[in-house]
Amino acid sequence: MTALTEAPASARLGFGARFTRHMVLSRWTPESGWSPLELAPHAALELSPAAMALHYGQAVFEGLKAYPRRDGSLALFRPDVNAERFNRSAERLAMPHLPVERFTEACEVVVRADAGEVPQGPGQSLYLRPFMIAVEPSLGVRPSREYLFAVIASPVDYFFADGYQAIDVWCAPDHIRAAPGGTGAAKCAGNYAGSLAAKAEALARGCHEVLWLDAREHRWVEELGAMNFFCVTRDKAGGPVLATPRLSGTILAGNTRGSLIELASALGIPTVQRPISLEELTAGDGRVTEAFACGTAASVVPIGAVTTSSGRSVIADGRPGEVTTRLRDELAAIQYGDRDDRFGWMHTVSVP
Ligand code: PLP
Ligand code: COI
Repeated sequence: MTALTEAPASARLGFGARFTRHMVLSRWTPESGWSPLELAPHAALELSPAAMALHYGQAVFEGLKAYPRRDGSLALFRPDVNAERFNRSAERLAMPHLPVERFTEACEVVVRADAGEVPQGPGQSLYLRPFMIAVEPSLGVRPSREYLFAVIASPVDYFFADGYQAIDVWCAPDHIRAAPGGTGAAKCAGNYAGSLAAKAEALARGCHEVLWLDAREHRWVEELGAMNFFCVTRDKAGGPVLATPRLSGTILAGNTRGSLIELASALGIPTVQRPISLEELTAGDGRVTEAFACGTAASVVPIGAVTTSSGRSVIADGRPGEVTTRLRDELAAIQYGDRDDRFGWMHTVSVP
């Protein structure tokens, strides 16, 4: 069985529904900086009801996975990329930096402590959720003077219940995820709270996710749910070309996005970072041959159709495309150790 053969529905873990036995904690104050990492049982946190994160949303998080590899080792996928983004998010929310090595070490400590709970089935992995919240008890509207950093872990497989299927997406006419100057490029809790009403609307319309457009013109594709967006077109010779929106400040710089651009290039598929309009995507003129979304939690997800207030447009034949499937398989092969780690992306945490 390859890493991506689907498990029977009864054996699926889903996403983020269960947690391992441990977590790692560290606290920050201006006087002492970060306290040493502490491994603790995964349990409820003691928090003042006045903790600032609860009121003003000073909270940032990350998502990365530890993969069970063919040789029996466990490895994190590019944790340094997540650590650096964590600090950019923290900066945007006026929170303190966490040294990159400390971030990675915290992830390693949890993976080692709960190595026996890393699921080994096809498409399964251990999803790590590092986060930082403002814990000072105060109702003052200003940056907190105390923070808690923690890493929890969740054994996962498919983000979408249907497994690897093309999804339908809803392009909400009146919801915006991010605006210039806002927090769209940060992985902060409030961005996700603000997306939930549109997501509920998408589900009510029989779609899986929301296709987010730009705030100014409501015309340019930015992201898809909590994932980055790509489409495939053809060059003059008929070869595939990937397109994805440029990181303009309103889009989260996905680890998967950056990795797929590098991977595609090594496979001879160029990527153009350019504006992609909703008209282009839904024209049905054959120019867009595939579209997909990507992120840590869901990996690579084919997009089958886009629904707007004026109707449903099927992308190409509505099924997972060849380039989409190849990129997904190649990435998984590196992550699960079925293929050489030629980019040096895997960070080994434990060996058998
Ligand atoms: N865009 C948003 C808004 C996200 O929340 C995520 C998930 O982290 C992504 C894109 C994909 O990023 P990554 O590939 O680093 O998981
Ligand atoms: C991820 O892809 O890692 C995410 O964090 C997306 C979502 C679960 C918030």
